[in-house]
Amino acid sequence: MVVEKIESTLALVKPDAFDNTENIITIIKRNGFVISERQVVTLSKERAAQFYEEHKERSFYDDLTTFMSSGPTLALVLRKADAITSWRQLMGPTNSDKARKEAPDSIRAKFGTDGSKNATHGSDSPQSAAREIAFFFPEYQHSSEFNGQDVREY
Ligand code: PPS
Repeated sequence: MVVEKIESTLALVKPDAFDNTENIITIIKRNGFVISERQVVTLSKERAAQFYEEHKERSFYDDLTTFMSSGPTLALVLRKADAITSWRQLMGPTNSDKARKEAPDSIRAKFGTDGSKNATHGSDSPQSAAREIAFFFPEYQHSSEFNGQDVREY
């Protein structure tokens, strides 16, 4: 019997990459993710500030929340085994300039610009995934008591 831990993670296609949504979704599906929720939203500055609250003491917080409220964002819930790590790996390094050097096939290398306009976001832990999925999809049902994961046996 194979036992896989199926995780859910939150992915965002940020305003700078919104016009590339279909290309990014093609890459997501080609890499075996199931898209279980999707929603287009234009965040207010206040909602963006709430989403990124953990960074509120950092120098770039105002730039980040201004950028994230500058246009439409696509929010997705992605599912597969190890979805959190796997999606972060597919995105590549946070800074798109670095991504082009170190991970040229990554999404941020292909669709991002620099350290602030970097195309996509992904949750960094099961705890963040739980909070971030609930932020965009309060009705989302996780299929086990929630720690960001459930188990599929076959
Ligand atoms: S990470 O991936 O959390 O370790 O990256 P980190 O460097 O801590 O950055 C956290 C988020 O802040 C964004 N960021 C910036 N936005 C605007 N301007 C500047 N200079 C900047 N530096 C970092 C970065 O893209 C991360 O956002 P998310 O959406 O989590 O990728």
